Amino acid sequence: VPSSPVAGPLTGRRVLVTAGGTREALDPVRFLGNRSSGKQGVALAEAARDAGAQVHLIAAHVETDLPQGVETTRVSSAHELEAATLRAAGDSDVVVMAAAVADFRPASVGEHKMKKSEDGTDPVIHLVRNPDILRAVVAQRDERGLAQLVVGFAAETGDAEHSVLDFGRAKLRRKGCDLLVLNEVGTDKVFGRDETEVTVLSARSAEEPAAHGSKRDVARFVVERIGHELGVRAD
Ligand code: CTP
Ligand code: CA
Repeated sequence: VPSSPVAGPLTGRRVLVTAGGTREALDPVRFLGNRSSGKQGVALAEAARDAGAQVHLIAAHVETDLPQGVETTRVSSAHELEAATLRAAGDSDVVVMAAAVADFRPASVGEHKMKKSEDGTDPVIHLVRNPDILRAVVAQRDERGLAQLVVGFAAETGDAEHSVLDFGRAKLRRKGCDLLVLNEVGTDKVFGRDETEVTVLSARSAEEPAAHGSKRDVARFVVERIGHELGVRAD
């Protein structure tokens, strides 16, 4: 049942959300992947829809039901995700880059299924770097002079010298995005779980609001921050 048009903080806005984890082919039957469930990205697409936005979800491998009332494009690899994202970003007011993009892919994809060799030598997989899609979105926005809000995500662990916030602030600057949704990851935190905790960093503001709860709660909070940021820019 299509929901009736709602007036919310994102009414009239076109919001692009990427979700899930990319898969990088090794041969016709194998890939390198990651543990992203796509739940946070799907929850964000739903929260944006519920805030009145016209939402386009680009789903890499997602382990949860896809949302109703949202245009969805399915992709697999980082390259496919990049092409679909840059195309759709061209007419989006907000781009939310929640997908877990493989940093590397196998340098070549075997045409045939890899076999064990008779002489006992085992294969070595050579990896090459994938494009940085978030940076490409920011570059496209700047080249075209678009009024577009770009939101990145980062899951970080602290180390002896740097806190999770230090890494998040550095990543926000490096990526050139407007907001960075940061969460701390540990061995049992975040991946596939429903409880999560985030801090939203802004390129324009020293405020670092945080929230915790279900992925749905966190998604609503992030959407509220997006609405706030759009409002500040309009002033
Ligand atoms: N991202 C992207 N393209 C990539 C890698 C990451 O668009 N090739 C996006 C993610 O979707 C996320 C943000 O960049 O929104 C941060 O991802 P992260 O993996 O934390 O950043 P990296 O630059 O890959 O840094 P790291 O070396 O810490 O993994
Ligand atoms: Ca990465």
